[in-house]
Amino acid sequence: MDRQAYVENIVDHYEHPRNKGRMDDADVQLGGGNPGCGDLITIYAKIGDDDRIEAISFEGEGCTISQAGGSIVTELARGRSLEEIAAMGLEEITDEMGEEIVRSRVRCATLALGTLQAAVDQFRRDRERREAGLPPIERKPFEV
Ligand code: FES
Repeated sequence: MDRQAYVENIVDHYEHPRNKGRMDDADVQLGGGNPGCGDLITIYAKIGDDDRIEAISFEGEGCTISQAGGSIVTELARGRSLEEIAAMGLEEITDEMGEEIVRSRVRCATLALGTLQAAVDQFRRDRERREAGLPPIERKPFEV
């Protein structure tokens, strides 16, 4: 894709977001933000017995790139295992947004991915603690 195609892809995800909306019965939900600008993303996910993302959605408010990121990342994540989510990196975002945009707006471009990975972390930690009979630890929003 050339720069124009990447821009069009981002705008399309921003204007027609996939998987946008609150999920009331999520197994995990976590907010993320960029304190520099106040932009926000919340990720919701249901996780199956096979440790794969069964359903995922996001809500948020902010710049075009961060909100397009919510749409892109939730599309990429569905059906993946928690291990696979933890291993996701900048390359996959770059494939969708283009290197130039990701490089110049890295915090915007990684807000949703970082929030998703923190949510998965949170889910695993809570589960380990539950299995060990310990109370959950306090949830901290993810920050880029
Ligand atoms: Fe705030 Fe993009 S300007 S995340």
